[in-house]
Amino acid sequence: MVTSVQREMINAKTCGHIFVCTKKTESECFQRMLFGASKTYAADVLSVKAGDLLFLLNVDSNVLHGIFRAKSDGKQNIVQEAWKGKYPYQVEVELMGDVQKIENAKGLLKKLGIEWHKTLTDDMAQRLLAFFSPKENELSKQGAAKQPWGLLTPEKVAVGKEKKTSEAEAESENEKPPLEATTLWDYPRQSYGKKPKGNNKYPGVTPAFVIWNMIQRYTLPGDLVLDPMCGSGTTLDVCKEEGRKAICYDIAPPPDRPEIIQNDARKIPLPDNYVDMIFVDSPYGDNIRYNEHPDCIGKISSETEAFYDELEKVMKECYRVLKPGKVIGWLIGDQWVKKKFTPVGFNVYQRLCKYFETVDIICVVRRGQASHTGIWYNRARRFNFFLRGFKYLFIMRKAPAEALDKGKRTIKWAYYDRNKNSST
Ligand SMILES: C[S@@+](CC[C@H](N)C(=O)[O-])C[C@H]1O[C@@H](n2cnc3c(N)ncnc32)[C@H](O)[C@@H]1O
Repeated sequence: MVTSVQREMINAKTCGHIFVCTKKTESECFQRMLFGASKTYAADVLSVKAGDLLFLLNVDSNVLHGIFRAKSDGKQNIVQEAWKGKYPYQVEVELMGDVQKIENAKGLLKKLGIEWHKTLTDDMAQRLLAFFSPKENELSKQGAAKQPWGLLTPEKVAVGKEKKTSEAEAESENEKPPLEATTLWDYPRQSYGKKPKGNNKYPGVTPAFVIWNMIQRYTLPGDLVLDPMCGSGTTLDVCKEEGRKAICYDIAPPPDRPEIIQNDARKIPLPDNYVDMIFVDSPYGDNIRYNEHPDCIGKISSETEAFYDELEKVMKECYRVLKPGKVIGWLIGDQWVKKKFTPVGFNVYQRLCKYFETVDIICVVRRGQASHTGIWYNRARRFNFFLRGFKYLFIMRKAPAEALDKGKRTIKWAYYDRNKNSST
């Protein structure tokens, strides 16, 4: 049994989102009928459209509140002072009927295969909606409220199974990478979702997950991203799907990618302070044959200073075209060839530090390498060397405008800020 409003939602194509609150922030959500999120989730909130189905998960009490509908599109600062400005990405909401609660909500979401920080597919939204039906509430009243998913009837389970295939298809199409929380990133394959990102046969292709995480963290929809050495266009494809603009160059663009502009990264034809983020996955030396172009930096050995000198020209140009305060991500790996180790990563990092300040350093696990075979593993053990297991992703920032004006760098150390506050 479902209400007429729920029936209306069930029949419509539903797009759902789960917002999160805590013991402290819940009452403000209800008083203002406003849900909010921090910058980390900006893209998700900005994708909310008026009419979308919304739920509110209190992560402290583990209760899911519903059913809400978005009254506005997701926007920045609808009510600037709400939650003292901590959650500026907001949406106005209205209740659909009386507010209903589901206890032990995280368990239910897990059971339904729902990750609460991701947009719900139509199918997920419908299944979650079913748990808010009057029937479920009656069952809850009979003392089974703690585990409503334990009450799935065989009939419901069958429906669930039937839906599984189409849901799996929809999910793989809409699949988004996890938003990384640590400095160790490890991906099972090069791309996600149904549409390929870049070409996984391209030599040295970048894992699309890495670029997705960079743009989620350091850009907003509509921002302009530059990739001056974009190879098969992974950056272009990720940006397109996430609503970011992208300018992508390569010294030898693949013939099937007309959007990639042929250009030498050592001279970027863009004005100063122009782009919102840069991603670079440069050659690591002359270990890969990318193309026959004489100006390909991938023809210079990383055992020579010349290699770093040429990459520094790219860095200098990146610094010039990047807006102050904005971020560049540079992916690079070390080399071990003919019994000689070259710390390509450290050398590149040293050069980057001449222009940028460090935000963080990520370790990206190397998979799918030609050398990751049983024979090479055996050789590595027998002859006492190591196969390359990771790459560095250097996340660097151009100093903000104020610091550039004063000719100095300012870094806000949270530790000192905290100490200052506690002593007052
Ligand atoms: C590691 S690959 C980039 C892979 C790319 N991110 C992708 O996902 O397909 C490095 C790229 O740098 C390009 N490259 C080398 N020298 C260059 C130069 N001087 N200017 C622009 N691109 C250059 C190569 O052609 C190659 O495509």
